[in-house]
Amino acid sequence: MVTIKSAREIELMRAAGKILGKVHQDLGKELKPGMTTLEIDCIGEEMIRSFGCIPSFKNYQGYPASVCVSVNEEVVHGIPSNKRILQEGDIVSLDIGVIYKGYHSDAARTHGIGEISKEASDLISRTRECFFKGIHYAKAGNHLHQISAAIDSCASGYGYGIVRDLVGHGIGSHLHEDPQIPNFRKRTRGIRLCPGMTLAIEPMINAGCGNVKWLSDDWTVITADGRLSAHYENTVLITRGMPEILSITEDEIAEGIWEPGGCI
Ligand code: MF3
Ligand code: CO
Repeated sequence: MVTIKSAREIELMRAAGKILGKVHQDLGKELKPGMTTLEIDCIGEEMIRSFGCIPSFKNYQGYPASVCVSVNEEVVHGIPSNKRILQEGDIVSLDIGVIYKGYHSDAARTHGIGEISKEASDLISRTRECFFKGIHYAKAGNHLHQISAAIDSCASGYGYGIVRDLVGHGIGSHLHEDPQIPNFRKRTRGIRLCPGMTLAIEPMINAGCGNVKWLSDDWTVITADGRLSAHYENTVLITRGMPEILSITEDEIAEGIWEPGGCI
């Protein structure tokens, strides 16, 4: 069942998203070569708690950390470790979920460590572009799979592989709510979008083919061909006009990729 959030729920989700945007912005600036992925998780968890939030991923279906840290060919759900050290040239996806007064926000960003290849920086910026092409259609009256198709066209146009085994989702008082939001074109229209729906839209895009496999830790998803993967996710509120990106960062707004209330 797809829920419509009340004005009170929307206020709480705005607050959760704003905190999550701040956590992403601050944690992204901590990343440097020589750091372990466990250190990233520890700093992230402390930030989340300092804002009065609970890290939603911790212990979710047994996931052991607060921040999913996925390096290079790791797509999502990498488990932080004191053995995994970031190196110059790596790309690292941070996926973070917070709960504020019972309401969730979920967002992901991929960062480069020091100087990265053009292939890597293109993949990161174009994955973000896929998200923005998608949410152009995220408004009341449109159908859900218009978002999926726009993401697909953008990624396919660059010759990238789209991860099909994992999808976006509704979000609210639970981390995962209906509907599922594929990042690829469907033969159906999907549900009609209504004001007050809140969605986590999250393209996971691979430099090579879209196929993935799971490591033996049962969490870490990696590309089947070992090539790079990037992830960009925000919690989004559907309105009558352009959507509100609840978890956007201040830096992104300053950069001008998104004007609250309008897509550029
Ligand atoms: N953004 C991911 C998702 O929506 C985060 C889940 S990670 C988990 O599925 F650890 F919580 F499972
Ligand atoms: Co998500």
